[in-house]
Amino acid sequence: MTDSRQGNPDYRDSGLEFPAGFVFGSATAAYQIEGAFDEDGRGPSIWDTFSHTPGAILNGDTGDKASDHYHHLEEDLDLMQRLGLHAYRFSISWSRIQPTGRGPVNEKGLAFYERLVDGLLERGIRPIATLYHWDLPQALEDEGGWTNRETAYAFAEYARIMGAALGDRIDTWTTLNEPWCSAYLGYGSGAHAPGRTDGAEALTAVHHLNLAHGLAITELRKVVTNDPDFSITLNLHVVRGEGPGGPEAVRQIDGLGNRVFLGPLLKGEYPADVLADTAAITDWSFVRPGDTGIIHQPIDVLGVNYYSTTRVRLWDGEAPRQSADGHKDAAGSPWPGADRVEFVQQAGPYTDMGWNIEPAGLEELLVSLSEEFPDQPLMITENGAAFPDTLVQEADGPAVHDPLRTDYLQRHFTAAHRALARGVDLRGYQVWSFMDNFEWAYGYSKRFGIVYVDYDTEVRTPKDSALWYAKLVATGIIPAA
Ligand code: FCB
Repeated sequence: MTDSRQGNPDYRDSGLEFPAGFVFGSATAAYQIEGAFDEDGRGPSIWDTFSHTPGAILNGDTGDKASDHYHHLEEDLDLMQRLGLHAYRFSISWSRIQPTGRGPVNEKGLAFYERLVDGLLERGIRPIATLYHWDLPQALEDEGGWTNRETAYAFAEYARIMGAALGDRIDTWTTLNEPWCSAYLGYGSGAHAPGRTDGAEALTAVHHLNLAHGLAITELRKVVTNDPDFSITLNLHVVRGEGPGGPEAVRQIDGLGNRVFLGPLLKGEYPADVLADTAAITDWSFVRPGDTGIIHQPIDVLGVNYYSTTRVRLWDGEAPRQSADGHKDAAGSPWPGADRVEFVQQAGPYTDMGWNIEPAGLEELLVSLSEEFPDQPLMITENGAAFPDTLVQEADGPAVHDPLRTDYLQRHFTAAHRALARGVDLRGYQVWSFMDNFEWAYGYSKRFGIVYVDYDTEVRTPKDSALWYAKLVATGIIPAA
């Protein structure tokens, strides 16, 4: 390649080739894109309730209509095919399948996912299905949500239903997306649904989510008839320390953010230091004998979501405590037991989320995971960036020029390639997101898509970053930006 540039200090390489079989795709989540919130028998989820709670979401946005994907399915699938995607990571709305989280299947809801999966396969795109991307049926929240152990068993039953229905066609089953967010933002800080603010409840939710994962994998294995990969997706934190208390602050945040999931999932035990750090909040008696054995299921691939890094130090107790952990400030804390830790504002540049751009963090995360778990294949299940986008009319049609997003992607694909070169068993990369969508507490104010969505007309326009990505997918080689 004439424009080949490698070893760039800022991770702006081009001309690097990914191994054959590397799975290039893109990701979305049900509540963020589907809309049709009350159609065809769908029951309400905690995100319907939360988004309709005054003050919970920026600008009062809701996912009622979202990107209206439910009504644009064929068109969206065609667009994925035009971009040449190898895989599509989507999530299934539990309350479309079981409107109250239990009981008989809502056939119309299931039919939507049958159409989606069949449409992907017809176009040669691998389905990567996530069973839970944060949208718990409201009826289960009314019984305690993830603080109720029974929710884990209801989830296993839902997994069995999905496995029986689609278990001849799904390439990869992901049980949960980012249980960290479900537990700590949902039950600790209250920034996410269901908006509860209790540290003990957040830790209870952590365990019941872990348990739900183990139970669901066990049920899926019983009913699927092809040979899929089983996985879970975590938002692992790349934590850097500052000052003399840095190592201690890192230990605590690594514990609550990473090891409380990686421990039971991949080693079959909770880290003792996390139990000790949180002993004043809960005695962890919700962990019953045998639970960690259930959670510790072999998985074929660990899903890794990465956006930026985290910087911590011990708080001196005097200056105002910084809380720049990348999450919207809310009534409670998403870090139960870590009251002495402060999250330091990091150096830019930043994306529109205020998240620092640090591709080295992705390389570091992948390498450290592969050192700790050498036999565990990895997949980047989310990476991408929000930037303000403008739709412009060019002579040959509408366009969105988003060089900052392309630059972000180029730098993070470079980081992924460097991890591969260092021996990491990285199987693929799903760009977040296939299209602009409802960005949780920030509503429609943040655009993460490589495809632009006009929320008035629902017209889709591939951004320049999508065209750049299509070249990468077609050649397997990082193009120049
Ligand atoms: C992740 C979520 C995803 C999206 C991105 C920006 O935490 O899994 O739904 O909101 O962040």
